[in-house]
Amino acid sequence: MVPEINPWSSNQTIDIDKLFSEFGIEPIYPVLSELPEIPYFMRRGIVLGHRDYRQIASAIRNKLPFHVLTGFMPSGHPHLGHLMVMKEVVWHVEQGGNGYVTIADREAHAVRGTSWEQCQVFGKEYLACLYALGFEGTTYFQSRNDRLKDLAFEAATKVNFSELSAIYGFSPETDLAHAESVITQVADILYPQVDRQPAPTIVPVGIDQDPHIRLTRGVAHKMRMFTVEERDGYVSVRSKNAPEAALDAIHQVFSHSKKYEGHVDIRGEACADVSRKVREIELTYGGFGFFTPSSTYHIFMPGLTGGKMSSSIPESTIGFFEPEATVRKKVMSGITGGRMTLEEQKRLGGEPEKCSLYLLNLFHMVTDDNELHKIREKCVKGEITCGQCKKETAERVVSFMKAFREKMDAAAEKIRV
Ligand code: TRP
Ligand code: SF4
Repeated sequence: MVPEINPWSSNQTIDIDKLFSEFGIEPIYPVLSELPEIPYFMRRGIVLGHRDYRQIASAIRNKLPFHVLTGFMPSGHPHLGHLMVMKEVVWHVEQGGNGYVTIADREAHAVRGTSWEQCQVFGKEYLACLYALGFEGTTYFQSRNDRLKDLAFEAATKVNFSELSAIYGFSPETDLAHAESVITQVADILYPQVDRQPAPTIVPVGIDQDPHIRLTRGVAHKMRMFTVEERDGYVSVRSKNAPEAALDAIHQVFSHSKKYEGHVDIRGEACADVSRKVREIELTYGGFGFFTPSSTYHIFMPGLTGGKMSSSIPESTIGFFEPEATVRKKVMSGITGGRMTLEEQKRLGGEPEKCSLYLLNLFHMVTDDNELHKIREKCVKGEITCGQCKKETAERVVSFMKAFREKMDAAAEKIRV
């Protein structure tokens, strides 16, 4: 059976409550007070779930090293539906994260059949958008990154086919390249820790990518030499596949420790200090010392045509390279939450939650909360017609796109393949 959350399905109507109750994703709201500043996309519930985000909030607060990584599959032009993840990455870079972006050309080629040449063209467009938003950091194409591919191979020693079929619904007919693109994504997520240093890593993604996150968290754990656990009055360090000499080194570095078969018990030390030391020793002995990666999840912006926003339905979305007249036309034909007649609109007001244009404003076009609130009020009180409201939204989108394209042009020389 194909699982409900599946990165390649077209069904994006996922039950939010189920995410929290069944999939172990946690609501982000309680963590927000741990951040020095709350970005609008978290405040407005667009980014609404997470795994292990507290270690990221703490790194931001304490100015400790952390990485932020996400990826884009270059199987089509970038469009408004990709903008949220891009903004999340840029925001985390501004908060002190080391930025990484992967262009998943292996995945596009394996899963969508996109030619390598096309991947290259689309991939560069994604990078242009990122730089236009102020991204700084490392970017790469999967197919050209040898260290990434080596890491993927190493990670593959920890994953078998029954796990892949449990997570993704893979069958005996699934081709190998598809499985390889999955393990390449696992390597993407761990890559910053190999490229730089082990550190907490935040991976902002849409909810559909959670299976990859779960798989990677498992692999990161399996690739560790040791587990460190707080017990009653002591800290226990267990070897999973560490060389004996590494376990000895841990015993030696903590004078109050006792060594047993396969584990060392340490008294009088804080768990965090033991973890840090163990990670250092693991690295000296050729291990990875991975931190288990964290993730945030955002909901998808609905398409202008009502359903999913996708480049396969051109009217549903707006690309960053489309002419002004097309942009205007698409916004003006967007589905609204307006009533059948003007009289009804005045009497009952509109329904912003059902309106693709209101959501476009909420997601991207109006970042000032007061301004958004005013739009909402006018709508629900029936004080504005949809025609007028659409016109205003179209103006916002057009000027956003214009400014964005200028920034893309200005950033053109930063793009590396
Ligand atoms: N699979 C992602 C997509 O379909 C792209 C991707 C590749 C990715 N590697 C990644 C996303 C690493 C997040 C992290 O868009
Ligand atoms: Fe949407 Fe604006 Fe119409 Fe309200 S008034 S339903 S926000 S277009």
